[in-house]
Amino acid sequence: MPVASRAVELAGPTLTLRYATVADAPALFELGSDPEVTRFFSWGPYTSVEQPRAYIRTLAGQRRRGEQLDLLIVHRDSGPIGVTGLVELGRRDRRAVIGTWLGRRWWGSGANEESKALVAHLAFEQLGLERIGAYADVVNGRSQAALAKLGFVREGVLRRWHRHGDAVHDVVLFSLLRDDWERSPLAAVPAELRGEPPEAFVVGQPASGGAGGDDAIAGSPSSTENGG
Ligand SMILES: CC(C)(COP(=O)(O)OP(=O)(O)OC[C@H]1O[C@@H](n2cnc3c(N)ncnc32)[C@H](O)[C@@H]1OP(=O)(O)O)[C@@H](O)C(=O)NCCC(=O)NCCS
Repeated sequence: MPVASRAVELAGPTLTLRYATVADAPALFELGSDPEVTRFFSWGPYTSVEQPRAYIRTLAGQRRRGEQLDLLIVHRDSGPIGVTGLVELGRRDRRAVIGTWLGRRWWGSGANEESKALVAHLAFEQLGLERIGAYADVVNGRSQAALAKLGFVREGVLRRWHRHGDAVHDVVLFSLLRDDWERSPLAAVPAELRGEPPEAFVVGQPASGGAGGDDAIAGSPSSTENGG
């Protein structure tokens, strides 16, 4: 008989990544109502707590369908500080795209590195992914520099990749392969996994070469679409 699995949670030295619940909506509202934070997203800034509440309500279905695996970034002392996650899962090719946003006061704090280290651990060690992509708007110098210093490799520019209302944006594509990760500062960050990742996101067992899906699943909106 199937046993209900415990929701996945990742713990690092100062941060925990976990599923958001509706009780987190006020904290997300506070963080995401800053226009500087959402400048490069198709959404925001939040103007009502109902907006993060509605976002949180979509997450369980997105996880189940293998469309989006968003995790709340929770600081040991300060509570929720942002969101990170994986989208655009390609099961056959064992890849996904990472996105992250942090409340303004957490920029430059090291939280980006630790949260990405935890997601990379999940992706390469638990889900069996072989590649994590990342997008940064061509004018988002901060995001590009943040990715590069963590070992993500710049691959080129995707022209007219993201549509935000009537505006269409070019983005820089970065990637972190399993080998890159092993050499990057991210691999040195201690990460403890608790619970089970959503089944739809498990594409293979890295050690055994395991059972990967070979059916391509259409990607969900990318990081700049979902605020990841
Ligand atoms: C993107 C984000 C997660 C990065 O996290 P962060 O904590 O700000 O990143 P870091 O401070 O570790 O790294 C940024 C680096 O860029 C540098 N930098 C800042 N502005 C820059 C600019 N305009 N051009 C180039 N480099 C810049 C910083 O000095 C820093 O480098 P350093 O550590 O060597 O000094 C965070 O800024 C954020 O949440 N931004 C809003 C949401 C967002 O844009 N997400 C990305 C979607 S495309």
